[in-house]
Amino acid sequence: MAQDSMRALEAHDFSIDSLKLAQRPVPKPRRGEILVRIKAASLNYRDLAILTQKYMSALPLPYVPASDCGAEIVELGEEVTRFKVGDRVTPIYTQGWHDGYPTPEQRTKRTLGAPLSGVLQDYVVVPAEDAVAIPSNLSDSEAATLPIAALTAWSTLQEGGIKAGDAVLVQGTGGVALFALQFAKIMGARVIVISSSDEKLGRAKQLGADIGINYRTTPGWGVAVKEATGGRGVDIIVETAGATLDQSLGAIAFGGFIGIVGFVAGMKAEIPLRSIIGPMIRIQGIAVGSRARFEAMNRAIALHKLKPVIDSTFPLEKAADAFRHLEQGKHFGKIVISL
Ligand SMILES: NC(=O)c1ccc[n+]([C@@H]2O[C@H](COP(=O)([O-])OP(=O)(O)OC[C@H]3O[C@@H](n4cnc5c(N)ncnc54)[C@H](OP(=O)(O)O)[C@@H]3O)[C@@H](O)[C@H]2O)c1
Repeated sequence: MAQDSMRALEAHDFSIDSLKLAQRPVPKPRRGEILVRIKAASLNYRDLAILTQKYMSALPLPYVPASDCGAEIVELGEEVTRFKVGDRVTPIYTQGWHDGYPTPEQRTKRTLGAPLSGVLQDYVVVPAEDAVAIPSNLSDSEAATLPIAALTAWSTLQEGGIKAGDAVLVQGTGGVALFALQFAKIMGARVIVISSSDEKLGRAKQLGADIGINYRTTPGWGVAVKEATGGRGVDIIVETAGATLDQSLGAIAFGGFIGIVGFVAGMKAEIPLRSIIGPMIRIQGIAVGSRARFEAMNRAIALHKLKPVIDSTFPLEKAADAFRHLEQGKHFGKIVISL
């Protein structure tokens, strides 16, 4: 049984320094809902962007940040048959998006960690239909890394129609990139990673990367990637950098797929349209993924005993340090907060 009050980490302003632990009442599950006790959460680039007001600046304060967690069900509302008390689950990031495309309302109003209340608190209530079971090979902390980063990587490769023998380019060594590397390897692809750090490239190779290119020392990495594929180019690019899309267009094979995921190098890209038309490139936006995709991904994770890469773990009381660590960009993989 849950207690009456719980810890909640509230942001009182749009700054890391404004994070404060508060007490809030434990919510009650209504019909069709589950009350979950959060064991661990993980941070995404989005959480930092919101907290530092680069995004969603009209969000009412205070708010509880972060969207991704591993949790255990402690109470069921009436008529819940999907789960039982004690089941380990992960709430999905875009609540209500079960298959196909999300509705505009789900995309803008139903995402956890803003505008819906986040997971840096001991308990949350979600509809039972908006959570998925945790793969049995994963700990709660590992499961906490999946809802945004892993699912986005998985969706990008699925939308790109990945097949054995493809060459895949992943940018950086953050959360999305390392999941894309791991998934592409189990699907039989050859993976090229670009990073600002030779040391991180070495670690990416230990995870299975075939080729590493330092984008700081090789700013024209588009040509280098193409050369590394014998001049053919890569079939799929998991574009987390954004502003360097011109380099990606230099690296892609004819008929290749670029999944636009993020913007760590900047929000705008100037690209010559001819570099898309002639080589018949497909460019598509990616917005995390549906519950059906999440469940398919979890089956692959369980089958291949895939382990997410956790960079570091901070207790809830030190969550501000976790955000600072993310801001510094020294991480390799996911930053976890244990509750
Ligand atoms: N559309 C979606 O559904 C979706 C979902 C998740 C994330 N995103 C977006 O995807 C991006 C990455 O998210 P994340 O959570 O994986 O972030 P993250 O864990 O913070 O990783 C960011 C990584 O980007 C790399 N990087 C920085 N500048 C770069 C540049 N100029 N060129 C290439 N790589 C660069 C860095 O790798 P090195 O240190 O190795 O250089 C860094 O570790 C963000 O923009 C995020 O908002 C979008």
